[in-house]
Amino acid sequence: MRLTLSVIKADVGSIGGHTKPSSRMIATVEGEVAKAICNGLLIDGFICHTGDDIAIIMTHTRGEGSSEVHQLAWKTFLAATSVAKTSGLYGAGQDLLADAPSGNIRGAGPGVAELSFDHSLSGLRPAESFMVFAADKCGPGAYNLPLYLAFADPMYCAGLMLPPMIQGFRFHIIDMDNTAGDSLLELDAPADSYHIAALLRDNERFGIDRIVSRTHGEVAAAVSAQRLHAIAGKYTGKDDPVAIVRNQGIFPAPEEIISPFAKAHFVGGDARGSHVMPLMPVPLNTPVTGMYCLPIVSCVGFSIDREGRFAESYTDFFDNPAWDEVRRRAQRKAIEMRSQGWSGAAMLPYSELEYGGFRDTVSGLLKRFRLRDDRKPEAAE
Ligand code: 13P
Ligand code: 13P
Ligand code: MG
Ligand code: MG
Ligand code: MG
Ligand code: MG
Repeated sequence: MRLTLSVIKADVGSIGGHTKPSSRMIATVEGEVAKAICNGLLIDGFICHTGDDIAIIMTHTRGEGSSEVHQLAWKTFLAATSVAKTSGLYGAGQDLLADAPSGNIRGAGPGVAELSFDHSLSGLRPAESFMVFAADKCGPGAYNLPLYLAFADPMYCAGLMLPPMIQGFRFHIIDMDNTAGDSLLELDAPADSYHIAALLRDNERFGIDRIVSRTHGEVAAAVSAQRLHAIAGKYTGKDDPVAIVRNQGIFPAPEEIISPFAKAHFVGGDARGSHVMPLMPVPLNTPVTGMYCLPIVSCVGFSIDREGRFAESYTDFFDNPAWDEVRRRAQRKAIEMRSQGWSGAAMLPYSELEYGGFRDTVSGLLKRFRLRDDRKPEAAE
């Protein structure tokens, strides 16, 4: 069977400020997804939230970009929006930027990550397992560094030295500043790994769209790389990407994929989407209630049975005492960075504030600048 994994997530309202969706919103999403499983559109579905972003994780056989699956997600988020509105929640419908998009909803606001493969539980993949990363309060390239390290650096993934991976992975890189459409470049690691790094270092402009095994042609990872402000034309919240990563066998093992997150690397995001703060790995369904508005990321793992259903349970990767140490480091890094407030590297550069209210403040002031007249009186004549 050709199986598709689709993860579609959106921020459509939150309780007590931008912290988490309400239980009624989550119950509404679960209800809609259960109906879609019942009527055969989906094989299986799982709902979770990271901060105030709700992720719907689905298996089905409709292929990537399926209108039915995308429309199900859109309608489900509309239903959750109406619950949020009724309850007077903050930011109801925030990420639903288009008016009734038809078919595929990529580019309409919600984050979309999808990949497909032949699912037979034999040959290359006698077992199928994958992980879903979901982040909140952060920019679109938040996974650039960790996924590069997992799929291109044997210091993080010793598995790259094994025969099934030694030819490396092909990175499909997207230029998120191209508003004409999806603009992609394929580069191979390890041969082009410095070129890949040269692009991925810019988390706000370039992102990983997908990663493919060079040996087997199988898709290893898919990421929702888009910029909400490029869609809305103005700041409408942070992009908060999701990613699907298949693991084991011909792909890195879970620990090789998550260990780069031990860095708690600095990303754009946090309060007003305008700071540079560390990405903190957190358990599923964690609200954003810390003393800042720290970028957070969760990671859930599934196995898939013969019918395409998630096996009886799931693994919450960052819900482990080992990550407490990283969380403390992230918090320490956050306190250090925030101690310099708005100054320099602590906030995103002007180009990134371009679409936010900060730009209005600065552009109002720019109009008031005057060239210094230091010419000598005689020269002025
Ligand atoms: P297990 O013995 O638990 O299967 O783990 C081995 C392994 O290869 C870990 O990456
Ligand atoms: P959201 O994208 O979660 O709404 O957060 C953005 C923000 O501006 C936080 O201050
Ligand atoms: Mg929000
Ligand atoms: Mg959010
Ligand atoms: Mg957001
Ligand atoms: Mg074992």
